[in-house]
Amino acid sequence: MKYAFVLGREPGLSTAELIAALKAADVGFDPKNAVYSPAILVAETEKPLDAAFFHTLGGSIKMAEVLGASERSLEDDLFNVLNGMGSETSLDFGLSLYSTEAIPSKNYKSLEYGLKPLSLTLKKRLKENGRSIRVVLNDQPALTSVQVDKNRLLAKGGELMLLIGQGAARIARTIAVQAFEDFSERDFGRPAADAKSGMLPPKLARMMVNLASASKDEPLHDAFCGSGTILTEAATLGYKKLSGSDISERAVADTIKNLEWILSQRKLRAETNVFLSDVKHLPEKLPKASIGAIVSEPYLGPPLRGGESDQKIHFEYLELMGLYRRAFDAFSKVLKPGAKVVFVFPVFGNKHVNILRELEDYGFRAEGLLPSAAVMALNLKSTTGLLYKRPDQKVGRDIFRFRFNPS
Ligand SMILES: C[S@@+](CC[C@H](N)C(=O)[O-])C[C@H]1O[C@@H](n2cnc3c(N)ncnc32)[C@H](O)[C@@H]1O
Repeated sequence: MKYAFVLGREPGLSTAELIAALKAADVGFDPKNAVYSPAILVAETEKPLDAAFFHTLGGSIKMAEVLGASERSLEDDLFNVLNGMGSETSLDFGLSLYSTEAIPSKNYKSLEYGLKPLSLTLKKRLKENGRSIRVVLNDQPALTSVQVDKNRLLAKGGELMLLIGQGAARIARTIAVQAFEDFSERDFGRPAADAKSGMLPPKLARMMVNLASASKDEPLHDAFCGSGTILTEAATLGYKKLSGSDISERAVADTIKNLEWILSQRKLRAETNVFLSDVKHLPEKLPKASIGAIVSEPYLGPPLRGGESDQKIHFEYLELMGLYRRAFDAFSKVLKPGAKVVFVFPVFGNKHVNILRELEDYGFRAEGLLPSAAVMALNLKSTTGLLYKRPDQKVGRDIFRFRFNPS
């Protein structure tokens, strides 16, 4: 079975999340056979995947089943697939074009201009069989997940993706699109939010929980829980033992409120334990070797406004390094051997946190998150730290996964 995943804004992270989620779901997949690109990942899996699997992901926008390559006439091949879709009397459809290469090929460029006429020709041909045909068009080469959802395309017919690389075009049929309304409800609709401390986007929180790929029955802790975004996502993913701590009373109260909200709204059950603690005092609050995974976005320093002196940034940097060292020292006392830590380090401009070597002394080794073919195709600088940064942000986030092996 072959599937195409349309990736979010940070394709490296989305790809790493997908690989971790396939492994956690025990779905065999050969990373060497996959096609990696900034827009699309094509993966061959040993088991079929469904929409429920897709909806566990935070970093993928659409999932489609690859039907095959169009060796002769693309128009005829699309016609044949579309003819079998929809109901006896009607069909609503849309076409989306994606490049499976970082630099789109000539084939892609020519189809980019030809997509609208191709859609209209197909509509005309399909109508000849007497069905009522509606086509959803976009000015961009691909339909957005909102367009697919709002036009109820998956219920009333479907979206076909054209995956264009050097060889023949591949045709894929969309199975699911991201539940953007659910994410935005959790982002903006939850009872407690603290814009000042900075909230993690729920999609990134979900990617981080998935990267940890911990067992759902193992205790999962967030040591800088803020308003509880990570724990909320872990709850929706089915984690059963959730704990969180923070140095701020308000954060503890917000996390408790948000966790109660999500558990009652989704009718979920989980043991929860949220308490006040400086990260360095965690070993006094949690039993030794009791935690299966830590997923945390720590304090990343004061927001930068631009124009800060190098000296000031360096001073902040040193303070933060101290906090992170103390955090990992504490983690080493509460984690079970083999446990994972998914952690965010700030990136100031081009300056990345450089304490991986020191963390090895506490037993933490940063893991490679991507196969080398993906690192090359996505032109990434590192396989351990994966960057998440909006173009307008002064401080980026580097996402790391560590494995704890006490000596
Ligand atoms: C960037 S926020 C985390 C936001 C959280 N991920 C969310 O989405 O709501 C960092 C949090 O670290 C907490 N914090 C700062 N220093 C701490 C320390 N020494 N120990 C524990 N928590 C600390 C702050 O109170 C703040 O809530």
